[in-house]
Parts: sequence; C-alpha cells; structure tokens
Amino acid sequence: MSSDAMLSRRAVLAAAVVLATAGCADATHSGSRAELVWATGGIGPADRDTALDVVAQWARLHPDGPKVRVEPLPPSSNDLRRILELELNAGLKNLDILTLDVVWIPQFAQRGWLVDLRDLRPEIERVSLPGPVQAAVWNGTLWAAPQVTDAGILYYRSDLVGQPPTTWEDLIDIGRRVGERSGLAPFVAAGKQYEGLVVQYLEYFWGLGGEVFGHDGQSVLFQHDPAVRALTFMRTAFLEGVYAPGFNTMDEEEARKTFQAGGAVFMRSWPYAYQQMNGGDPDSQVVGKLGIAPLPAFTGHRSITALGGHNLAVSASSGNIPAATEFVRFVATSRDVQLGLAQRHSLAPTLKVAYHDLVADPMVALLATVLPSAKPRPVTPEWAAISAEMQQQVYGAYTGNQDLEAAVEALRNFLNATVTGG
Ligand code: GLC
Repeated sequence: MSSDAMLSRRAVLAAAVVLATAGCADATHSGSRAELVWATGGIGPADRDTALDVVAQWARLHPDGPKVRVEPLPPSSNDLRRILELELNAGLKNLDILTLDVVWIPQFAQRGWLVDLRDLRPEIERVSLPGPVQAAVWNGTLWAAPQVTDAGILYYRSDLVGQPPTTWEDLIDIGRRVGERSGLAPFVAAGKQYEGLVVQYLEYFWGLGGEVFGHDGQSVLFQHDPAVRALTFMRTAFLEGVYAPGFNTMDEEEARKTFQAGGAVFMRSWPYAYQQMNGGDPDSQVVGKLGIAPLPAFTGHRSITALGGHNLAVSASSGNIPAATEFVRFVATSRDVQLGLAQRHSLAPTLKVAYHDLVADPMVALLATVLPSAKPRPVTPEWAAISAEMQQQVYGAYTGNQDLEAAVEALRNFLNATVTGG
C-alpha cells in the first residue's frame, strides 16, 4: 500500500474510533493488556525488519511476556508524524510504545502525549551518547529513550572514484567527470518537499556558517548570505543536472534505489542505506562497490552533518506504562540490541560502549568521527510548523518557482512570527 493510501486508511480508522467512543470514556480499552503495541516507521521496510529483530530479542529474554507487536506506520517522516498526531490527539489507547523522530519530542511532550521517563534518566545518561540523550530531553525532563542516532553521510562508488571529495566543489567536478564517462548522474539525494529536504538545506546553510536561532533559542539569526548561498547551490545543482533526474520527487528510499541501480556517482543519505545497498536489498547493483565518507564542506568552511535519529517514548494513553517503560529501557540499554542494530542493520547505536566494541566496523568508525559534531535541528515544539514553511520555501526556490531572496525573506518573517507567537 502506498504511504498516502495507508495514511488515509488509518486517518479514517482513527476518526471512526473517535466517533464510536465519543461519550464513553474508555470503551476501546480495559486495563492492562498481555500485549504491547510498538508503533514504528522511519525510512522504509528496513525499519520494520529492525523492529522485528529487536522484538525477537525481547521475546527470548521475556518468555512469559508481555509480547510486543510491531505496528508498522508510514515510512516518510511527515506522514508518520501526522498519523501519530491523529491517534494520540484522539487519546487512542491502542499504542504503547512510539518510535519518534528526534525533532518531534518537544511537540509531543508539550501536548501531554508522552510519559515522563525520569526513573530511567540516571541509567540512560550513564550509558547513552550525550547527543541522543539531549534530543530526548525537553524542558528539563527526559521524554524518551534513545534508540538509534543518525548522521548524514556521503556514499560514493568506490569502483569509480579513488578518494572521496572533501569539498562540495570537488564533488561536483568529480561527479560530472566520472558521471559523463560512465553515464551516471553526479549526485543523488532526497529533494522532495518534506523533512528530509529541510535536513539537507540546513546542512548546506550551517556548512556556510549559518544558524537559524541564537543560543537562547529565541532570537532569530537566519543570516541572509548563507541562506541565499545555500539555496543558490541547490538551484544551480538542480538546473545544471548535478542532482539526478527526479531529485525533486525523491525521499531517502527513492534516492537509495537510484544510487543502487547505478544511477549516480555520489549520494547523501543516512547509515541505514549501507546495509540495504550492500546485500540487504536483492535489487542492489552496487554490492561491494560502496564507499562511505563524511559529507564534504564548502571551500574555506568545515563539513557539517545534521543529527537525526529516533527515540522510543511511552504513550501517555498506554494501558501498561510499566511494561512499556521496561521495553524502551531494554532497547536503549541492552548491549546485544544496540550491537545488533549496527551489525545487522547498519544503524548508528546510541549506546556508548558499542563504539568501542565495533571499532573495526567501517560504518561505526565513520560515525564515531562525525557524530560528536553532528548538529541538531532547532529544539522547539514549533518545529513541525517551521519545517513545513522551510519545505515550501526551499522547494519553491531550488526548483525555480520562487525567487531566492523572496524565499529567504518569507522564511525569516515566519521564524520571527514563531518566536513572537504571531
Ligand atoms: C532520518 C533521520 C530523521 C530525519 C529524517 C528525515 O530518519 O533519522 O531525524 O528527520 O531522516 O527524512
């Protein structure tokens, strides 16, 4: 089923349950259940397989239950958030454990949809990487347990490129030269109008020295020059065919499929794509031809990658909060689970010790160098609204439908209105 069809089916279902239960407070659920439901989505089928693997590990250690059932949600970040908003807003008690993109924690916490995990905090802080813990804290409270972290990385065709480029300028040069010779597009990434586009724009903008907000998180900086230069870079890359054809309709999965079909010399994506392209997906044509490296920098600047990742939260409407809390603790703190995420799914563990245990793994070694300086998107309950505006302006500007200066101006006005509550 397409994610749109899935979204509308679930929306109808959620609305139907709200109507059916209106006036009878707890008709959908009575007390605790023997089964916990874990709602998860993320990027694609890889997320479901990862969740099933984790659940199997839990079941082996907890033969007397509770069982955990995986409820797969749409893969795209935007659709996934909308579904969860609908279900949690309706107070549905059918979900216990929620996989949340790091950027949604403040909004979900502020809406009262999550359980305060203060009892887990000392242990989580002791064993997890500081960045992902920070991303699970809002207003001084821990609202989720880190599950996987994420950072943008560069994939390259190691059979065609000797050394990966360290600047964006070189990436374009090499991509064009090698691409022309071998009939490949220089570069592919996710250019659809959604959260993944915002991540990419911010990597360019931050990489040129920009900051969206000041340190207080209240004053808007969003400096004109890096904002316009980042858009110009994208617009030129789009118009001049640096980005692969179809870039403007691609999310991560579509970009990965283009790259693994031999469609591009370079790709910007997340670590999950490695396992998929190196044998996980039987359609991959690039097994054994994959190089990974930090993202390039703009000449004279340093490389900046965005911090991504997913945390596990307990739904405030869960009928079995203690068991759900134990499950999220297990995922965040179990060495076997966290090592398995890296070894079997090429995901970035949040457990510190995994980076010692797996130093010989090339992906883990790369992550160990890029994660410490990976940059979080602004931490605010308004992120969904800010991101939606950024998606629209950035998309309009790089595709040539919106004037660059006007896009930057509109974004700055929107950011100002957000902080003044306008
Ligand atoms: C990845 C990241 C997440 C980000 C998303 C954008 O799933 O982990 O943080 O928001 O990609 O598409």
